[in-house]
Amino acid sequence: IPLAQVITKLIGLGVMASQNEVIDEDTCILLADDFGKEINIVEAEEEISIEEEMGLNYEDKENQLKPRPPVVTVMGHVDHGKTSLLDVIKHSHVQTSEAGGITQHIGAYTVNVNNKKVTFLDTPGHEAFTSMRLRGAQITDIAILVVAADDGVMPQTIEAISHAKSANVPIIVAINKIDKPSANLDRVKQELLDNGLMPEDWGGDTIMVPVSAKTKEGIDDLLEMVLLEAEMLELKANPNRKAIGTIIEARLDKGKGPMATVLVQKGTLKFGDNVVSGFSSGRIRAMIDDKNKQIKKAGPSMPAVILGLSDVPNAGDLIYAVEDEKTARTIADKNKESSRESRINTNNRVSLENLFDRI
Ligand code: GTP
Ligand code: MG
Repeated sequence: IPLAQVITKLIGLGVMASQNEVIDEDTCILLADDFGKEINIVEAEEEISIEEEMGLNYEDKENQLKPRPPVVTVMGHVDHGKTSLLDVIKHSHVQTSEAGGITQHIGAYTVNVNNKKVTFLDTPGHEAFTSMRLRGAQITDIAILVVAADDGVMPQTIEAISHAKSANVPIIVAINKIDKPSANLDRVKQELLDNGLMPEDWGGDTIMVPVSAKTKEGIDDLLEMVLLEAEMLELKANPNRKAIGTIIEARLDKGKGPMATVLVQKGTLKFGDNVVSGFSSGRIRAMIDDKNKQIKKAGPSMPAVILGLSDVPNAGDLIYAVEDEKTARTIADKNKESSRESRINTNNRVSLENLFDRI
């Protein structure tokens, strides 16, 4: 691809790059995506965080690992019915309460499917929320790609496929809205094939389940496929250690202070734990589950909203439970210090998190 084209695209993404610019991985993925290319990261520059340096993110021994629920991210083009499908799965009505019917954040819910727990992440389909979808794809075990049978493959469908593929996440396709008279299954399958997903019934290996969030047809089949895929992945984590999780989203609540939704990945996050995430540290003074109930702990693959952090942490960052308050504060201070240094070293660095603020 000619350099001029690459630079023009970068400028379009808000990155004022010159010919010898170093761009970060996220920008790279976005850029490749725009050109319809898939990139293969062969060697990323080792960036060891202070937490890793302190040995907090150690590997567990095989015999400490216990089965954990799958994390399933629902992705797809705007209005194709992601939230509606999850509403049916949860037997709730989130979709009707959303502003303008558009999802603008990542929702995290744990649902019992045939007595097995599954954590679902709902992502927005609107084009402005690329970073949330990328994050959703990176912390998930399985992606459900929702494609409306009357609309077919659209730009954010393609984007979702590429995020899932670059994160090496298996994709299960839900072809939704099959109740509509204008639904055309074969056309959708052909379009998916054109984008690298070969339907199983056409000899490929991508499971595609026709569903309707309106009539509830096919939902049980879809869930069965999710459980089957999850079983094959043999997902495990050690619940008996200090927790490590990812901040899915975070905001400042006027009354309650910084609130963060955490997806626990290893260990068990507990009420009263001292935690640190980037610059933010504190002691957990409340934990709330997806049903708005106070909880005392959350194990691997469980989402929880936590209160007690000093600042609003960055979505996408890891959060660690540590020994005591002093350790948490020391790490947060070190993170501040090293960020100041790297700001001096790299000027004009754009990441996915601030990309859209800049345009
Ligand atoms: P974003 O979060 O904004 O990306 O949208 P979404 O993918 O979550 O779509 P949402 O669930 O909000 O549904 C969009 C519209 O499609 C709503 O008006 C739903 O009622 C409608 N819809 C969703 N699923 C179906 C379906 O299976 N059949 C029909 N007929 N309509 C559906
Ligand atoms: Mg939605």
